[in-house]
Amino acid sequence: MGALPMLHLLLPILAMLTFPMTQLKPVAAQRLYADSRWIVDETGRRVKLTCVNWPAHLKPLLAEGLSERPADAIAKKIREMGFNCVRLTWALELPMNETLASLTVERSFQNLGLSEALVGIKSNNPSLVNLPLMEAYKSMMTSLRNNKVMVILDNHLTTPGWCCSADDGNGFFGDKYFDPQVWIQGLHKMATMATGFSNVIGMSLRNELRGPRQNVDDWYKYMQEGAKTVHAANPNVLVILSGLNYDKDLSFLRNRPVSLSFTKKLVFEMHWYGFTNGQAWQSGNPNDVCGAVSNDVMGQSMFLLEQGYPLFVSEFGIDERGINVNDNRYFNCFMAMAAEFDWDSALWSLQGSYYLRQGVVGMEEYYGLFNYDWSGVRNSTFLRRISALQSPFQGPGGKPTVAHKVIFHPLTGLCILRRSRSSLLVLGPCEYSEPWNYTPQNALQLVGKLLYLRAVELGSPASLGMTPTDPGVKWEMISASRMHLSSKARDGSTVCLGVSAGNTVVVEACKCLSDDSSCDPASQWFKLVDRTRL
Ligand SMILES: *[C@@H]1O[C@H](CO)[C@@H](O)[C@H](O)[C@H]1NC(C)=O
Ligand SMILES: *[C@@H]1O[C@H](CO)[C@@H](O)[C@H](O)[C@H]1NC(C)=O
Repeated sequence: MGALPMLHLLLPILAMLTFPMTQLKPVAAQRLYADSRWIVDETGRRVKLTCVNWPAHLKPLLAEGLSERPADAIAKKIREMGFNCVRLTWALELPMNETLASLTVERSFQNLGLSEALVGIKSNNPSLVNLPLMEAYKSMMTSLRNNKVMVILDNHLTTPGWCCSADDGNGFFGDKYFDPQVWIQGLHKMATMATGFSNVIGMSLRNELRGPRQNVDDWYKYMQEGAKTVHAANPNVLVILSGLNYDKDLSFLRNRPVSLSFTKKLVFEMHWYGFTNGQAWQSGNPNDVCGAVSNDVMGQSMFLLEQGYPLFVSEFGIDERGINVNDNRYFNCFMAMAAEFDWDSALWSLQGSYYLRQGVVGMEEYYGLFNYDWSGVRNSTFLRRISALQSPFQGPGGKPTVAHKVIFHPLTGLCILRRSRSSLLVLGPCEYSEPWNYTPQNALQLVGKLLYLRAVELGSPASLGMTPTDPGVKWEMISASRMHLSSKARDGSTVCLGVSAGNTVVVEACKCLSDDSSCDPASQWFKLVDRTRL
């Protein structure tokens, strides 16, 4: 009793002491595990990896952007943009070529004639200038650790430079610059080095295997050996294995699992871009292409989730200027699948520009989150859109709730919400979505309420009806993408759900259902996404 009056005085102090720690816990020092398809922490709660790639494997062998901004400011901004992790790339020569790794940053930049970038590094990151390249790399890991950003070390290639082509000698075990034994030694060194960094939670063994030498038998032989080596040197890290054909193809695993002596540490990774399918998105009808490509992705890699392995989509991204039709169309399909499968991912990429890429000094990266001079975000609309993927929809932890659906709109990254208890339906942040059920009668019902999504007439807002037998409350998913939500208007015509200016959900004529490649139906795409946690 006597202690009670004191409590209100203590509470603010307790809050100060405990709040920052609990808040930072999900990304502070920790070990992660694979628990069936989820990546979880020591208490079994899901940690959804929302990473961004930060390249440090190009010729200068220094993480990009350090001529433009202090490392610490970049790391802070990564957190601010909603990412909890970085896929930090490295070239095999960094641990294995003493001559190269012992060059100072200054010497490395001088050798490449990058005098302007060097001036920038001297002013933004003076402490790096005289560090050997390996120490500078570790210094990035420290900056990220100080800012509670998790790190996945990714062996991107052997020879420093831009990656990847089929004949660059870096593609597969046995290629000119890809000696498996040197690679194993390099993995051992990096894994050992990483034991000193509590924020390193994974190692990605080799990026985008490819080229004429690639074959399944060598994949098992060397990937298993690499995995064993990494685990022996550093049992804390997740061991991440990539597929064949530029990390598109893991289909061979369907009937032949990898054989490892350790458990709960194995993760697979895959890459998926617009150009993975050439110009298919631009030259075909987006419904048809999305249907076919999603099928393909299921068969090549995504089936692993169903088999009970985490799948890390470690490269995806688009030209953020929004001018590449192929990229734009692919990304609508990607967003839908990413929400549905709720996978772990790493965006390509962080950098707004490179010190030196493919012989070009200061090349701009239009797929980069930062703008050219790293002073701000290149496209805040894009960032807001992908933020929908940064929180988990499913998996152990969070605040569990009865399984339900949210109605996700991939074009905006938003969900259908009821505007403040009225029956007007609008798009808004998915976290505010009320739970929906998709009933056996194909009605979309607000859970626990006698309210059903309803089409009344063409051109008017969608509403909420109360009569389950009304034909306007029956919704089917049509077209090859299965993403047009289609119903019947009062006059009996077939209609689709769409979005008007101001993000009101409206009833429209279905557009661009198949064949036509000149139009884009994505404003009418909706995906019913499972949610089991809030
Ligand atoms: C090591 O790096 C130096 C400097 O870039 C280079 O000249 C040499 O060829 C490299 N050695 C190997 C074995 O790759
Ligand atoms: C951002 O992306 C959107 C959508 O793709 C595009 O319309 C817009 O022009 C882009 N903004 C900038 C500044 O590039």
